[in-house]
Amino acid sequence: MSLTFDGRVVLVTGAGGGLGREYALAFGQRGAAVIVNDLGGDIKGGGRSSAAADKVVEEIRAKGGKAVANYDSVEDGEKLIQTALDAFGRIDIVVNNAGILRDRSFARTSDVDWDLIHRVHLRGSFLVTRAAWNHMKNQKFGRIIMTSSAAGIYGNFGQANYSAAKLGLLGLSNTLAIEGQKYNIHCNTVAPTAGSRLTETVMPPDLVESLKAEYVAPLVLWLCHEACQENGGLFEVGAGWIGKLRWERSLGRTVRQKNKSMTPEAVRDAWNEICDFTDATKPASIQESLQTLVEVLSKVDTGRGIGANPTGATATNPSAAVGQTLPEMTFTYTHMNCILYALGVGMSTKDPDHLQFLYEGHQEFSCLPTFGVIVAQSAMTGLGSVPGLDIDFTRLLHGEQYLELFKPLPTSGTLTSRATVADVLDKGSGMIVLLDVHTYSGGELVCYNQFSVFIVGAGGFGGKRTSQKAVVTAPPPDRPADAVIVEETSRDQAALYRLSGDWNPLHIDPSFAAMGGFKSPILHGLCSFGFAARHVLKQYAGNDVSRFKSIKVRFVKPVYPGQSLQTEMWKEANRIHIQCKVKETGTVVLSGAYIDLHAAADASVSAGPPQTDGLQSDLVFAEIGRRIRDLGEELVKKVNAVLAWEITKDGKRVRHWTMDLKSGRGALLREADGGRADVTFTVADEDFMDVVMGKLNPQKAFFAGKLKVKGNIMLSQKLEAVLKDYAKL
Ligand code: NAI
Repeated sequence: MSLTFDGRVVLVTGAGGGLGREYALAFGQRGAAVIVNDLGGDIKGGGRSSAAADKVVEEIRAKGGKAVANYDSVEDGEKLIQTALDAFGRIDIVVNNAGILRDRSFARTSDVDWDLIHRVHLRGSFLVTRAAWNHMKNQKFGRIIMTSSAAGIYGNFGQANYSAAKLGLLGLSNTLAIEGQKYNIHCNTVAPTAGSRLTETVMPPDLVESLKAEYVAPLVLWLCHEACQENGGLFEVGAGWIGKLRWERSLGRTVRQKNKSMTPEAVRDAWNEICDFTDATKPASIQESLQTLVEVLSKVDTGRGIGANPTGATATNPSAAVGQTLPEMTFTYTHMNCILYALGVGMSTKDPDHLQFLYEGHQEFSCLPTFGVIVAQSAMTGLGSVPGLDIDFTRLLHGEQYLELFKPLPTSGTLTSRATVADVLDKGSGMIVLLDVHTYSGGELVCYNQFSVFIVGAGGFGGKRTSQKAVVTAPPPDRPADAVIVEETSRDQAALYRLSGDWNPLHIDPSFAAMGGFKSPILHGLCSFGFAARHVLKQYAGNDVSRFKSIKVRFVKPVYPGQSLQTEMWKEANRIHIQCKVKETGTVVLSGAYIDLHAAADASVSAGPPQTDGLQSDLVFAEIGRRIRDLGEELVKKVNAVLAWEITKDGKRVRHWTMDLKSGRGALLREADGGRADVTFTVADEDFMDVVMGKLNPQKAFFAGKLKVKGNIMLSQKLEAVLKDYAKL
């Protein structure tokens, strides 16, 4: 479909000749009402005449278009817009094009040369655009063009005044693009090359003839069309070619060290790296630009950065760091740390299951397995002192994490960790350091962590690309997830989690996060990791921490506190594959992740696995399932709750059942309740039979300690409705 401008009102400044005339004719031809502005002066800004504008108006009208003339200088911006309003009642598009030249070598540039150029180009564009702005804002539509020049972008001999004004227009456009975006006002900049009276003095006549203005106008028309979403762009255009420009920035280098003054010598010594465009980035916003600085502040000032090598030698031989051991670290904690961590990863007294991790007086008070990363995390800091590595911490990303427990973590104690650089990999665009941390309690190995960190831009040292020592991620099976748990994180999740020892202000300070390019402070990756791990522990291990063997995770995207985490789980024997998403956006935040569990049987010590075949209760549940299918609706009305059952045999949980008597026609599922249950009954297989057979009254069973009830205890009263008549089985 061809691009038309019917109903649109366009102002083109300096449209009496050259490029402006071409734009005006093209807009007029495609249905727009055009205000042809030109004061009709000479190329140096002298003189005035209405002839130039009138002629173009005539040309447009002769072709059946709508146009009016305006002879004011762009320095009278309001008057130009008023002409549009008087003639056509609105203003939709402004093409700031008017321009003059006063070329002089810099030394000979007078105040007048400087001021005139700035008044016409920069101040003129400002005044015209400001006059149009509120009209565009109110109608929620506007398209603005600024006209820059290659002389501004690259510099040009004899054009100091012009270059400065022309690049000033790009700065103006960049900010208008940001301020206008939400009102559908787009502002773009063109740097044209065309033969005109402005260029005929500098270009050979042939070139002036061949570089036609009509090869520039189509870009301007497209950028001004309502269908074009481009905003804040800069384009070079000429001879029928169009290219887009953007900024490029070297990776740079931090030359400051904590508690030391920054010196020009350090800058000199790092000069090659500062100016090296290998792996350069292309920041597209001030946030992206500032993010680096924020990272530098956070890393250097918290002591996690090491800055430049003071000798000036750049890093050295990373591969030589392999096998090096960091100084031993100790970590002392009490039940308070375990509880604080559990709260940090979202546990709440709302869920009776969680009391086991939140109340030190609970019979089965336990430390969450993923607390194993907390006891070892200070090892990361130690990386800075490994000879040969020369890590720039401002470029460090926590890429992956592996944790394996050899016994459940004690709920208090002093643990000792030993960290070793397991391997250093060269990924070209960066370097991966695998840090193995073994943690001991009184000489006994408690857990093993592998931190996998990626240092952007530190690759290319000729090292190997893969390692046998890396614990690798695993993709989930190709089928819908077997179980899904969705849980909202709280507004204060990061505020709480950080108290377990990660003090980066990125997770708490809004202005710090904003400077880093985030709309608000983000959640710690290891916090989502904690959520996902306890979801699996609940779904597949009945919160039995002794079942937890290991976890592997890759961190992909950030999460904002308050968003909901959706843990998708696939069970493949004792491996539970996990993928974690932000529910609201569908963004994957943890990928390739899995948890390995010890088989349930492992938990029983020497008596061998409990007999799980032929449970008497299985028969009853089979019958209950049939009745729910027949009478589900009636039961849902009577009970209106989700009841979970845990059947034990020889003191071990051997079966989960979930009776959903809350929604639809009801359902019975042979699986853990996934956090949905209003009440959970734990009962031994044989006692369950007694209850069902009417030999044991549920209340009595409860007081005798044979029936444990977690959750809404009042729902026990509804048991009769569910179980009655089973005595007849
Ligand atoms: P041009 O001289 O043919 O057109 C400029 C028009 O602006 C003239 O008709 C002039 O009367 C008008 N004008 C000057 N001062 C004015 C004022 N105060 N108020 C209203 N109108 C005024 O030049 P050309 O080449 O068409 O240039 C158009 C724009 O493109 C200028 O901003 C110029 O700096 C820019 N440009 C042109 C290049 C080229 O290769 N032609 C290269 C880079 C930039």
